[in-house]
Amino acid sequence: MTDHSKKPTTTDAGIPVASDEHSLTVGRDGPIVLHDHYLLEQMAQFNRERIPERQPHAKGSGAFGHFEVTHDVSKYTSAAFLQPGARTDVLARFSTVAGERGSPDTWRDPRGFSLKFYTSEGNYDMVGNNTPVFFMRDPMKFQHFIRSQKRRADNGLRDHDMQWDFWTLSPESAHQVTWLMGDRGIPKTWRHMNGYSSHTYMWVNADGEKFWVKYHFKTDQGIDFLTQDEAVEKAGTDADHHRRDLFNSIRDGDHPSWTLKMQIMPFEEAKTYRYNPFDLTKVWPHSDYPLIEVGKLTLTRNPTDFHTEIEQAAFEPNNLVRGIGLSPDKMLLARGFSYSDAHRARLGANYRQIPVNKPQSPVHSYSKDGAMRTENVSDPVYAPNSYGGPAADPSLTDDAGQWYAEGDMVRQAYTLREDDDDWGQAGTLVRDVMDDAARDRLVGNIVGHLSAGVSEQVLERAFEYWRNVDQGIGERVEKGVRGG
Ligand code: NDP
Ligand code: HEM
Repeated sequence: MTDHSKKPTTTDAGIPVASDEHSLTVGRDGPIVLHDHYLLEQMAQFNRERIPERQPHAKGSGAFGHFEVTHDVSKYTSAAFLQPGARTDVLARFSTVAGERGSPDTWRDPRGFSLKFYTSEGNYDMVGNNTPVFFMRDPMKFQHFIRSQKRRADNGLRDHDMQWDFWTLSPESAHQVTWLMGDRGIPKTWRHMNGYSSHTYMWVNADGEKFWVKYHFKTDQGIDFLTQDEAVEKAGTDADHHRRDLFNSIRDGDHPSWTLKMQIMPFEEAKTYRYNPFDLTKVWPHSDYPLIEVGKLTLTRNPTDFHTEIEQAAFEPNNLVRGIGLSPDKMLLARGFSYSDAHRARLGANYRQIPVNKPQSPVHSYSKDGAMRTENVSDPVYAPNSYGGPAADPSLTDDAGQWYAEGDMVRQAYTLREDDDDWGQAGTLVRDVMDDAARDRLVGNIVGHLSAGVSEQVLERAFEYWRNVDQGIGERVEKGVRGG
């Protein structure tokens, strides 16, 4: 007897199907017929279920929630969602960098920390990491870096020799690699890590005054980490440990939150600060730019369809709203192009019409047509026009992300300043921030990593690299690897 209280299965065209179990055949034991449209639909759809995974940051998950402003920062930015009392819907996605879509969550790697704020003035994306710095400062090296962290051409294996080869030939990576090899290189869960913009951005207030800023989303759950051994064990017993933890916590009403604090540098100070404030391998010491509290991010709702809400989510650092702009950080400027290009390749030209990527504010753009377009376009389809189409209103924009620049076109590194070098801040992290136990774990993690297939020439450079970070750490690493 059919139970009509249940929903009848239909084809994708909404036509009720005759059976969930049996193909159409010639007699009970005969061949399947080609016009069994429902069987063909099932097979053909199945063959097209996978979309390309993200090139980096393929493994991850996310959740929805909101951001509430708790402290008045209107003197620094006019962004609508950062005004006193504002509450904005948010999507967050956390990820590893190098692993593929099914890889273990607990591999040692930086973690992505992506936020999409559905603001009243358009979508604002903050696409950061759980580390305040990065491996390089010029985008020309990013692609090479990611390849060195992924898989070899010949055997398809990840390869520590390749990783250390790149790092030791790129001394600017030392600060980030120190982070990575330390406790924070494997967070206990995504709930137990901070999120950083890493880059410097610009904020502009309603009077047009400009500031340089860095975002710090500090976990309210407290920082916690897995040791290398715990992470290896988890990778074998529960490769989706972080994904599961986030989902179950939210399902059980334990809503994770982060407090947003900013470092804010007056515009003119950037010209004379002792570090290049746009160099992504450096932090701004807290003693120079203390944290200023802004608000709270809370995650409260799980996705109901991982594919449409998380896998098809498209974050892009060039989604910037009034009051927020890019900075002269070369990495950030390159990211401004890379993400929307990746989305067009991965999701198609109309990826912004996928519901999770759609702004909550009205869209009046002149984009039209293209594969998988779902929203109607109406005339006029060009601007300027005499027929009532949208017209740009400069009063709704500002000059966030604009600064004075001049010079010959060159391919050269940033000009060095008084305190700029590749090793100093990494050394500070080791000597002044870590305690003895953390330093011991750091040495253990490096020794373990270097003892897995790294060639002699790269090993020699690695010992030198660590001696440059800290003489004592370098000596301990060499001794550990040599078995002394
Ligand atoms: P502070 O003493 O003011 O800050 C130290 C920072 O280090 C805190 O933000 C702390 O994060 C973080 N931290 C603590 N333990 C670890 C660890 N094992 N691995 C990585 N980070 C850790 O010093 P400064 O601002 O002068 O910076 C000193 C060094 O601290 C920097 O060279 C940098 O490596 C590191 N750091 C600096 C940050 C910054 O924005 N200034 C941010 C994060 C690290 P928490 O408060 O969350 O525990
Ligand atoms: C993902 C490029 C640096 C954080 C990606 C993706 C690309 C990319 C192509 C995949 C996007 C997609 O398919 O959806 C670059 C380039 C960089 C760079 C070219 C430097 C020049 C950084 C830095 C950070 C970062 C410095 C952090 C501060 C992320 C995150 C994701 C990501 C979090 C995952 C986004 C998501 O959750 O969907 N990056 N990246 N990237 N990147 Fe970068």
